[in-house]
Amino acid sequence: MFSKSMRKEEILKVGVCKELAKGEARVALTPEGVEKLGSLGLSVTVETGAGLSSSYSDDDYTTAGADIGMERTSILSACDMLLAVQAPDEETINQLKPGTLLISFIWPLQNKPYIELLKKKQISGLAMDTIPRISRAQSMDALSSMSNIAGYKAALLGAAHLDKYLPMMMTAAGTIPPAKVLILGAGVAGLQAIATAKRLGAVVEAFDVRPIVKEQVESLGAKFVDVPVEEDETESKGGYAKELSDRNKEKQREVIHEHVKKSDIVITTALIPGRPAPLLITKAMVEDMKAGSVIVDIAAEQGGNCEVTKPGETYYHNGVAVMGPLNIPSTLAFHASKLYSKNILSLLSLLIKDGKADLDFEDEIIANATVTHNGELISPFVKENLK
Ligand code: NAI
Repeated sequence: MFSKSMRKEEILKVGVCKELAKGEARVALTPEGVEKLGSLGLSVTVETGAGLSSSYSDDDYTTAGADIGMERTSILSACDMLLAVQAPDEETINQLKPGTLLISFIWPLQNKPYIELLKKKQISGLAMDTIPRISRAQSMDALSSMSNIAGYKAALLGAAHLDKYLPMMMTAAGTIPPAKVLILGAGVAGLQAIATAKRLGAVVEAFDVRPIVKEQVESLGAKFVDVPVEEDETESKGGYAKELSDRNKEKQREVIHEHVKKSDIVITTALIPGRPAPLLITKAMVEDMKAGSVIVDIAAEQGGNCEVTKPGETYYHNGVAVMGPLNIPSTLAFHASKLYSKNILSLLSLLIKDGKADLDFEDEIIANATVTHNGELISPFVKENLK
């Protein structure tokens, strides 16, 4: 499995532990990933049961070449690199040796004390969420992999909660018209929600502040809702949305109101990096919706796009089901782990040279992903956005 010329003590030790966050079912590395890391010259130790909640058994890991059975604390203190989904808690970080490489979601802009913790503990923290969204990094883009899952599942959640058919049904007992689905925010999640709702037979409309997505929405067979916005720029340098002025927000809400009240399902996915989710659906709009309609607000984690969303809950407001699901990718843990593991492997293929991690900050992917190294804040993306 390893290069013959490499001495055992030079082999990079990778640790994979059970995720501790409540409700987190994903695992950072699948058995397939273990095999791949072996071929890159790395040894992998996996905590017993780390993959069980995503349907990967200890036997699968052993067959793939992982060491299984070590205590969590021993894995943490011995590893040179820790792979995780969620940013590990402080107790976990405290058990790592200085210089350990951590690869996980970190969300540094929303979690400044965590940056300080990594700096203090001399952990090289690479954030899957600050990898630039450039073509070369597409295979490492865990934000897209997870958003894609969230959009798909949001459409299913909406369909499962609606007391109506989604497709048009011509039956002997009469014809049922198709359900109307409105998607607000047509980024990665929104586009997948459109595609899924279309496959289920609904009539779909979508809206986004970035006019560039109109074509993508239409190519999926949905109607694009046009809101004339006066601002020249609704998109930032990185392709993300910018926050609108109050005047434009008001204009947008008027148009959205008209569409919301005619919809059976509204799926909201709108986000602005580093800011709370924009408020698109007011309480008054919800109260104008038909009883039995459903809102699936997948921006709930960032506060929600709907005024009455309660993050993590599903409840009824005036007869309308308001859903604020959290950590949706974890509900599809098998495939979410498979894709996340592939994203990590792509990053490692760039990072690992001759069996060693090479943090080459000349490379914009590595530089932007590296939040901390040797007690310093490194990522230009994080530095700029923290200002
Ligand atoms: P996101 O999760 O940050 O936001 C979701 C959507 O909400 C975006 O489309 C945004 O325009 C929209 N939004 C924000 N404020 C809104 C408002 N007030 N009303 C309606 N919609 C609003 O975005 P996501 O899905 O992570 O991707 C954003 C963009 O990043 C992509 O469309 C693309 O341009 C770029 N990207 C590039 C990739 C690449 O080249 N490798 C891969 C993935 C994304």
